Amino acid sequence: MCGIVGYLGKQEAYPILIKGLKRLEYRGYDSAGIALLNQGLKVYKSHGKVSDLENRIQGMDLSGTIGIAHTRWATHGEPNDVNAHPHYSESKDLAIIHNGIIENYASLKEELINRGHHFASQTDTEVLIHLIEDIQQNEELNLLEAVRVSLNYIVGAYAIVILDKNQPDTLIAAKKGSPMVIGLGEEEFFIASDASPIIEYTKKVVYLDDEEVAWLHRSGDLKIKTIKNKEKNPYIQKLEMQLSAIEKGGFPHFMLKEIYEQPRSIKDSMRGRLSASQGIVNLGGIIDYEQKFLNAKRIIIVACGTSWHAGLVGEYLWEELTRIPVEVEYASEFRYRNPVIYEDDIVIAISQSGETADTLAAIELAKSKGATIIGICNVVGSSIARATHAGSYTHAGPEIGVASTKAFTAQVTLLALMALSIANQKGSIPKSRYYQLLAELEALPEKVERALDVNEQILELSKIFKFAQNFLYLGRGYNFPLALEGALKLKEISYIHAEGYPAAEMKHGPIALIDAHMPVVVIATKKGAYDKVVSNIQEVKARKGVIIAIVTKGDMVVSQMADYVIEIPDTDEALVPIVASIPLQLLSYHIAVLRGCNVDQPRNLAKSVTVE
Ligand code: G6P
Repeated sequence: MCGIVGYLGKQEAYPILIKGLKRLEYRGYDSAGIALLNQGLKVYKSHGKVSDLENRIQGMDLSGTIGIAHTRWATHGEPNDVNAHPHYSESKDLAIIHNGIIENYASLKEELINRGHHFASQTDTEVLIHLIEDIQQNEELNLLEAVRVSLNYIVGAYAIVILDKNQPDTLIAAKKGSPMVIGLGEEEFFIASDASPIIEYTKKVVYLDDEEVAWLHRSGDLKIKTIKNKEKNPYIQKLEMQLSAIEKGGFPHFMLKEIYEQPRSIKDSMRGRLSASQGIVNLGGIIDYEQKFLNAKRIIIVACGTSWHAGLVGEYLWEELTRIPVEVEYASEFRYRNPVIYEDDIVIAISQSGETADTLAAIELAKSKGATIIGICNVVGSSIARATHAGSYTHAGPEIGVASTKAFTAQVTLLALMALSIANQKGSIPKSRYYQLLAELEALPEKVERALDVNEQILELSKIFKFAQNFLYLGRGYNFPLALEGALKLKEISYIHAEGYPAAEMKHGPIALIDAHMPVVVIATKKGAYDKVVSNIQEVKARKGVIIAIVTKGDMVVSQMADYVIEIPDTDEALVPIVASIPLQLLSYHIAVLRGCNVDQPRNLAKSVTVE
């Protein structure tokens, strides 16, 4: 959470920084700020979004070829002008932007107050820049050294950039636990939380590693050392991302664009990995770990949010196909509950961003107990991707809408591919089922394309339900995790209270809520526990609940009973969560838009949760 951008070079910094902040706004958007250096260090800040900052500082002197900027998701101190970044040091010579959390900030702050420091904000970030200046002055160090030494006192996570009034040709950056990428131009540098603010200027990047500090100079010089004072050679990589991937491409919102991208993103997640006709699944990223899978007595899946729901679908898939027991854990619970972890356990960590702090901590814990960690990440080179022993990227492309859509379907696709590959080697499923599922996977992009045909119908439906106060989502078997995901999507972006339940559990509580005002979305596709779900629908109808049913095309039974019916193409029961995601995503999207909500940046949320 929080987006940081820095620029140093020959161009005017302000337009580059503002554009960069807009690209990173998905990471947090409760306040924003910018610091520019040109005959003095100027800091401009505003609560609200980047556009609020832009409006507020229109007409002011925004010149300068060096600057730093920040868009915030508040952790310490409410989102207001004062707590917005950048923050000054005591002398106001230094300004800092920060993404992360300084866990020991309270004790450091107390010590600094005793030493005569004054703090304007309630943030942990201001404490860090005061500490750096204090060490710089008292130990008579240059800024690079002062930053390096100070970071040894820090407990927590940081990606920071520091601008010094007295050094107009230099920026200092450092990171631990929060992402940071440095773009290398011709005698110019771009710094950002991810590559999106950088790609239109350069494809050459350096990803800083944890506990590294970088010194960037206008001459094009880049020096990197660890906080323990070990020199490092910058490892320059080429960015593969395309600019079009992070633009809206004619869609009104990123979320709708990403929903519509799914036929392609699902195809990309399987590209080069699957050949149904030859009966091949080839996941290069885990090939060296296949024996571990074959020997594993247990798989533990750790994730958060939507990725956790993908993990739940994974549990059904892996247990059915590989007969290896699977546990799915919220990373935030797993990391603190002293779980039993064996050396022959395989932990699959699922994360779109690859930066989620709880998932990362769960990985470290499992690793320390000797388990094998396999990652399923979307962002290439992300912290989680690097922390795992092996893994496979989802290749869904950048997901910018805060509510996850295409990442979810790509995660489930990959879980299915992995499970099939292991099941085939283990001989835990009949060959015929293996081939049948491969063929179904290959047909998925086309089926998802057809599922998108319901868009207009769902828009009309959304007009009926836009004022609903509550929603219930029901499903059984593979469709139960999807009920959870459908409910999460709706509450995230429309702020309507929604709950997902296994359909049969309804009678143990939620049935008390059902009346003529309660819309109940039931995923009632053929196969699996279809007949049982039919009975559950009858139970809702008997209490005058309003049924919106997602059914398999051509369904005659549920269609007679439900108030509203949405048809999706038939597919294997195990893959229904992928196809049936489409109408659920569209339903929450249209309801949210009709309610006037900001679907791409829902209140209080952030795309990448780098705090626990
Ligand atoms: C945040 C996002 C969710 C996401 C979750 C886990 O809460 O808003 O959309 O599912 O984090 O993120 P990850 O990047 O680890 O999948």
